[in-house]
Amino acid sequence: MTRVLSKLNIEFMNQTRLNSPPKAQGNLFLGNLFQMKDEGVHFYPRMARLYGDAITARIGWKSFYLFFHPDHIKEVLQDKSDIYIKGDQYNQLRHLMGTGLLTSEGKDWEKQRRMLNPIFGKNGLDILLVQIKKASEQFVARLEVEQELDWSRKMFDFALEVAVTSFFGSSLDPQKMDQMAHDMHICMRFVSRRMTNLINVPLNFPVQEHVEFKSALKRVKTEIEKLYDNKVQNKGRDSKDMLDLLIAAEDEDKHNLSREEVFDQVMSFLIAGHETTAITMSWFYYLLAKKPEYQERLIKELESGDYKFETSNELGKYPFLEAIINETMRLYPAGWVIARNITEDNSVGQWNVKKGHVLAVCPYVAHRDPRWWNNPDDFMPERFLDSEVMKNLPRGAFVPFSIGKRNCIGSRFSLMEITVFALEFFKHFKMTTMQKEVGVKGYVTLKTDRPVRLTLHKK
Ligand code: HEM
Repeated sequence: MTRVLSKLNIEFMNQTRLNSPPKAQGNLFLGNLFQMKDEGVHFYPRMARLYGDAITARIGWKSFYLFFHPDHIKEVLQDKSDIYIKGDQYNQLRHLMGTGLLTSEGKDWEKQRRMLNPIFGKNGLDILLVQIKKASEQFVARLEVEQELDWSRKMFDFALEVAVTSFFGSSLDPQKMDQMAHDMHICMRFVSRRMTNLINVPLNFPVQEHVEFKSALKRVKTEIEKLYDNKVQNKGRDSKDMLDLLIAAEDEDKHNLSREEVFDQVMSFLIAGHETTAITMSWFYYLLAKKPEYQERLIKELESGDYKFETSNELGKYPFLEAIINETMRLYPAGWVIARNITEDNSVGQWNVKKGHVLAVCPYVAHRDPRWWNNPDDFMPERFLDSEVMKNLPRGAFVPFSIGKRNCIGSRFSLMEITVFALEFFKHFKMTTMQKEVGVKGYVTLKTDRPVRLTLHKK
């Protein structure tokens, strides 16, 4: 009897293993297209509530898998990162930045990552810290008080100013900076749309949108090339910056990056780091403006450290600040959904997945799953100071910078940027907001559904 039961059990296990995740109900022809368009980000938690940890969704004839459980996130991004790789969905980004670190794959990626890792180590970060401080001081000195500001726009401009200053050491003048921010915005919006479209018109088709994108991209490239040339001509006079670090990077055979490769990496860092940091900072100040008690507590902490931050080793010097940054990224992870191509028939957890299909994991859902987080939708930075909570958290339950070998190379850079700006900002200001509610809008990154509006007050 026991043997029969155990045989039945094994057959049952095999049968469940052979299954794909449950199919999400949708339109006979279009699948889940309209639900995804209409509900946006909210489609994903709704699916998790309805079907559990995994689903098979469909857009038209193309089906794909979605996974929500932290163990699945870890399996996809970390344990099986050679099987689940970046694929077609990154083609749109390749139009923008060639094959830099963000978009390359295989041996080519491995070589690039080895060469670039040292830039984001202690020595590289300390060089970049000087530039981040310079940009923060200049930016904060220009902030207007006692009037409502489009804070999302401010953070977009600030992140770009930091990028340009730390990459090239020489700031653009304000007019050029505005043009650059405007052009970058056109490029990102265009690429976001193409990454989420079901069908895309070929890029060489001369429609208005393509012309606008191409000329914006060209202006960005030309501007960066000018900065590059300027840098090379003035080599030895400027203080050190990212461009120096990129030019000096070498592989095991002492080969350097070519001019084209340096350009691809600059674009890669700019695109991967600019909007992600800007929107994280928009959310950060919005959440704090809604909670004056947290603002007070943070200011006390920063005062106690004399608003000082001397080296990249000091990340973590202000634990409450760090907790607020983490809580912001838990609620609003810029990389809210991460897609991969499946290169061989394989499995994720108990589910089978098929070669050639696309799968995606969804940090946005895992970051708000009540199984791992109390009051998951509330802004409660203290949770990150509770070592018990952190100890019991599954590895894939908090992944704002992803995990595994393709994790974010710029994570410490962006944490430094957010920290240094906060120190400079709270030395002078507090802020309030009249906005009742700001919602989420998911493109490539998780944005606010309207600009965050804040009023600054001198302390
Ligand atoms: C708050 C800010 C940031 C967030 C939330 C963030 C998040 C992420 C995430 C989730 C990934 C994985 C993407 C995937 O696998 O599909 C990633 C990769 C990457 N990020 Fe960031 N990032 C941030 C800032 C930055 C900055 C400032 C830089 C550059 C200076 C940067 C450069 C990159 C690059 C190059 C990759 C690809 C790494 C590789 O594949 O080896 N990021 N980032």
